[in-house]
Amino acid sequence: MYIDTHCHLSYHDYPDINKVLEENKSASVDAIIISGCDKDSIIESLDYIKKYSCVYATLGYHPSEASVVTEEDLNNLKYQLLQNKVVGIGEIGLDYHYGKEDRDKQITLFEKQLKIAEEYNMPVVIHSRDATMDTINTLKKFNVTGVIHCYSGSFETAKEYMKLGFSFGIGGVVTFKNSKLSEVVEKIPLERIVLETDSPYLTPHPFRGEVNSSKYLPFIAKKIAETKNLSLEEVAAATTNNAKNIFRIS
Ligand code: NI
Repeated sequence: MYIDTHCHLSYHDYPDINKVLEENKSASVDAIIISGCDKDSIIESLDYIKKYSCVYATLGYHPSEASVVTEEDLNNLKYQLLQNKVVGIGEIGLDYHYGKEDRDKQITLFEKQLKIAEEYNMPVVIHSRDATMDTINTLKKFNVTGVIHCYSGSFETAKEYMKLGFSFGIGGVVTFKNSKLSEVVEKIPLERIVLETDSPYLTPHPFRGEVNSSKYLPFIAKKIAETKNLSLEEVAAATTNNAKNIFRIS
């Protein structure tokens, strides 16, 4: 059994959800955690976790929402987090890829949501892009842990996150031919790794160019198994166990 710990399942990308979930099942991906990370996808995620038993959700405002999220939205989020099958807060974090103009707003939103995570004792799913130092320094101020989503940094940075108790969401990037991520994954202990597709984005090799789907998760596991010289079964069992522990899924 596999758990896709991070994906997006918007109706816009996947009009036939039942088909997606059936295909997942055929690929032994028995549970998925969808990320509601703006107003609309939070509402959609809450709907899906009620309808489909194998679907869980993390909810939280993505840094790209920093200029639009209101206090009322955050108060609503607190209520939404209490719903059954909401297993974490995210994806939240910092993204300077398109510039740092709203850096202060991003940090403020990030801190407010980390504070909620602390209060609610929930794991966080961190989005950090071109913002490693600020991400680490902000996380240090709070008593939270969880997953660094779509990790693709260095082993040195990974060590910093591990000191804070974080694990790493490893996705399709590890299968890319030009990626150095597998060298980093080789050094990260298996106990700190969970699998994710981030679908519809980041489709793993050899399906690049297609819309991604959780059904491709075993291809990510296979690459990790090769990299670490382990069996596919070992990687599947360990990463599933890690995901269940972090997100408290039984
Ligand atoms: Ni995502």
